[in-house]
Amino acid sequence: MNINWYPGHMKKTRESLLEMSKLVDIVIELIDARAPMSSTNPIIKEITENKAKIILLNKADLADDKVNKKWIAHFKDAKCIEFNAKNKSNVKKIIDLSRKEVDKYHEEHKQREHFGPIKAMVVGIPNVGKSTFINLMNNRKSLKTGNKPGVTKKNQWIKVDNDFMLLDTPGVLWPKFESQEIGLNLAFIGSIKDEILNKDDIAIALIKFLKEHYSGALNARYKVNEDATELEILEEIAKNRGFILKGNELDVYKAINILVDEFRNGLLGRISLEEPLDE
Ligand code: G4P
Repeated sequence: MNINWYPGHMKKTRESLLEMSKLVDIVIELIDARAPMSSTNPIIKEITENKAKIILLNKADLADDKVNKKWIAHFKDAKCIEFNAKNKSNVKKIIDLSRKEVDKYHEEHKQREHFGPIKAMVVGIPNVGKSTFINLMNNRKSLKTGNKPGVTKKNQWIKVDNDFMLLDTPGVLWPKFESQEIGLNLAFIGSIKDEILNKDDIAIALIKFLKEHYSGALNARYKVNEDATELEILEEIAKNRGFILKGNELDVYKAINILVDEFRNGLLGRISLEEPLDE
């Protein structure tokens, strides 16, 4: 896997996130429920060292329900809940849970009781749903902050209610590339740009994963023979969907794009890419 990365950038990101964390009482980390280990970042520990923390297993609606429950049981050092950042009824849940976790943290660390509104910040790697979450809390639709790691504009506060304030800029963490498997998971969930890994390789690896772990999912969506090779399956998708180029050639590249996009949007069903290792 050929990946370019810039440690200088990471250093700056780390510093700006540490600065930002000094302004808040609680850090809300969003991870992708389909790949919770791959979509977290080790620096989060440092950012939340002296802070209450909540982990939102976001996009839980796209992941395998049984596996979500295993992840909830797995995360022991912070409160972790299944979450859907598109669901409006979740706003109150976050306000109440944040207050509870801040109070608990203060009690456990023998600190004075917290007075005034809870101040929170959101962190996460690209595409885990940070903007969607902030919009949900802000009750509007248009925030699009971009995905440069670090903090990209002057901090402003969103007053969600009298009891809860949220930094309007998410802390964008860099995705980690510790192994080929993590890199692929990040590509499947759209957290690294498709240009970083070859999209053909992403699609082929995704088909392999689905054949092995979610047998029947490809056939249910695309009416393909799952015993065929990955390339044959892509050709079959192109044929069944009518992706034909001039000269009657199959447009396999279009099939690749459709497969990856449809997986990301949950159209192949609720799929989890990772299970906790302690299982
Ligand atoms: P980011 O700021 O962390 O980079 O992520 P962002 O909020 O932009 O969300 C990335 C994509 O994930 C968006 O889809 C968003 O709608 C979707 N999303 C966020 N949270 C959830 C969730 O809990 N469940 C589901 N199913 N999807 C979620 P998009 O297709 O890129 O944009 P859009 O067409 O929805 O605007």
